[in-house]
Amino acid sequence: MILIQDYKSNDPLRKSFDKLANLVFGISLEEWFTKGFWNDSYKCHSLVEDGVVISNVSTTHMNLVLNGQKRRAIQLGTVMTHPDFRNKGLAATLMKTVLDHYQGQTDLFYLFPAEAVMQFYPKYGFTHYHDIFYTLETVVTSSPTSSITRVDIGNDFELGKFHDAVQSRRVISSTFDTLDCTSIYMWHCLNDLRENIYRINGTDNYLVLRQESEKIRLYDFVSDTEYPFTYILDSLGPDSQKEICLHFLPDELSADRWKLREHKNEDMFFRQITPSSTFSHQVMAHT
Ligand SMILES: CC(C)(COP(=O)(O)OP(=O)(O)OC[C@H]1O[C@@H](n2cnc3c(N)ncnc32)[C@H](O)[C@@H]1OP(=O)(O)O)[C@@H](O)C(=O)NCCC(=O)NCCS
Repeated sequence: MILIQDYKSNDPLRKSFDKLANLVFGISLEEWFTKGFWNDSYKCHSLVEDGVVISNVSTTHMNLVLNGQKRRAIQLGTVMTHPDFRNKGLAATLMKTVLDHYQGQTDLFYLFPAEAVMQFYPKYGFTHYHDIFYTLETVVTSSPTSSITRVDIGNDFELGKFHDAVQSRRVISSTFDTLDCTSIYMWHCLNDLRENIYRINGTDNYLVLRQESEKIRLYDFVSDTEYPFTYILDSLGPDSQKEICLHFLPDELSADRWKLREHKNEDMFFRQITPSSTFSHQVMAHT
C-alpha cells in the first residue's frame, strides 16, 4: 500500500478515487474535472493498493475572513475508507499525515463531519462547533425594482458568466466569509445547487437560493459590488414576503434596526483557531 497525493491529472487514479467517492458518498468529481474547475486548491491524499484508492482525505486550501481577520485555512473533506478496509487504521494514518504535513502552512483546519462519525475528529485535536442560519424578524416591505431568472448551468456561456462572477465575488461578512473558493463553488454549481443559481436580471449579480413553499433559503449573494440588503429582497419580488432564512450575514444586518433570530445549522470541527462568535459558513464553499 502506498500514499499518493495530489494526482488529479492521473486519469486511472482519479477515476479510482471517484469510484470510491461514489460508493461512499454518492458523489462524482469527474464533470468538475473535465470542465476545468478542479484546480490546485483541492488535493487528494490517498492510500492506494494495486492501483486502487482504498482510503482518502482531501484538503481544500483557501482563506477565511474570521473574527475580522484574514486567515489561511485548510478544509478537510471526502474523508473515506472503502468498507472492506475499515478499522485498520487507514483513515488515522492519512489524518496524521495531512495534519503533520500542513501544520506550518495554515492557520487552521476545519471540516463538516458526517453525523455518524462525530467521535472520529476529536481524536485528532478538533473542537466541535456549528454554524448558524438566521431568520429575519424585522418586517420589511419590499418594492420590487428587479427580478431574478434561474441560470441554465448546462449552457456553457451561462456557466462561464457565473464562474467569472464567483471569481470576483465580494466578501459579505467581516465576521466569517470564505475567500478563494471558486473551485468548490463550481462543484456545487454543477451538482447539488445546479437548480439554485439565479441571476438578478440586467446585472452580473447572482443569488443562490432554495425556494420552499413557505420560505426562501438565501445561500449566497455573488457580486463584485456592495449593495444594501433591501436590493436583494427587492429582487425576490413577491417572494420577499415569505420567511427568509439567511445563510450569510451582510455586515449591515448586524445593525440594531434588523432583528434576527439564530438557528443551529451544520455541525463543524475546528483545529488551532476557533471562531469567537456565531457565524454562517458559505454553503457553496462546503466540501
Ligand atoms: C470514518 C472512516 C473514514 C474511518 O475510516 P477507517 O479507515 O475505518 O478509520 P481508522 O481505522 O483509521 O480508525 C481511526 C480511529 O477512528 C475510530 N473510528 C473509525 N470509524 C469511526 C466512526 N465511524 N466513528 C467514530 N470513530 C471511528 C477508530 O476506532 C479509530 O480509533 P482509535 O484510534 O481510538 O482506535 C470510515 O468509517 C468511512 O469511510 N466512513 C464513511 C464515510 C464517512 O462518514 N466519512 C466521514 C465524513 S466527515
